[in-house]
Amino acid sequence: MVKTKIAVLVSGGGTNLQALLDAQQSGVLRDGEIVLVISSNPKAYALTRAAQAGVPGVVCSRKELGSQAAFEAAISQALAGCGAELLVLAGFMSILSEAFTRQWPRRILNVHPSLIPSFCGKGYYGLKVHEAALAYGVKVTGATVHFVNEVPDGGEILLQKAVEIQPGDTPEVLQRRVMEQAEWKLLPQATQMISEEIGREKTQ
Ligand code: GAR
Repeated sequence: MVKTKIAVLVSGGGTNLQALLDAQQSGVLRDGEIVLVISSNPKAYALTRAAQAGVPGVVCSRKELGSQAAFEAAISQALAGCGAELLVLAGFMSILSEAFTRQWPRRILNVHPSLIPSFCGKGYYGLKVHEAALAYGVKVTGATVHFVNEVPDGGEILLQKAVEIQPGDTPEVLQRRVMEQAEWKLLPQATQMISEEIGREKTQ
């Protein structure tokens, strides 16, 4: 089967990108190939991870491009250039407009560090999600991989995994546990699932 071409969109440290690159190496991600990494942040360490793995990286910075429309046009151009068929948001901290997400129905995945519908939507990203979970006092949190549509964190859920909160957790400690126990497993698994599905559709 011809591999599905994947573009990974990042903004920061890129540990989820690393999990995808490792999954490609180990064969967990067998039906997809990461062909491009797009970073919204020129300083993202994720770009170094991409370079180390020999995957091309490009920067599309909303700040530098000046508007959401110019930002999304730059992303679209990069995606067209590499022939991407599936987009994976791996710690991507910008919200994509309805005009953009409509062009990729069931073709954009996102990993979110909570059990949606808890602690999600506008304003809930990165460490803020874990701060909110600890402030509320929930005893179980987790991660979700879902399709991206026009509603932030509102698309169809693909996979979820629960992670227990321990006494004395800080947001940083909890973030790490959620990544290790849930995100780094779920994201490669979901990416393989959809890559395979796209591959099958192409051969039909
Ligand atoms: C991850 O926990 C990811 O789920 C979260 O940011 C972190 C990025 O880490 N994403 C969001 O909050 C998106 N709404 P990484 O750069 O090491 O993958």
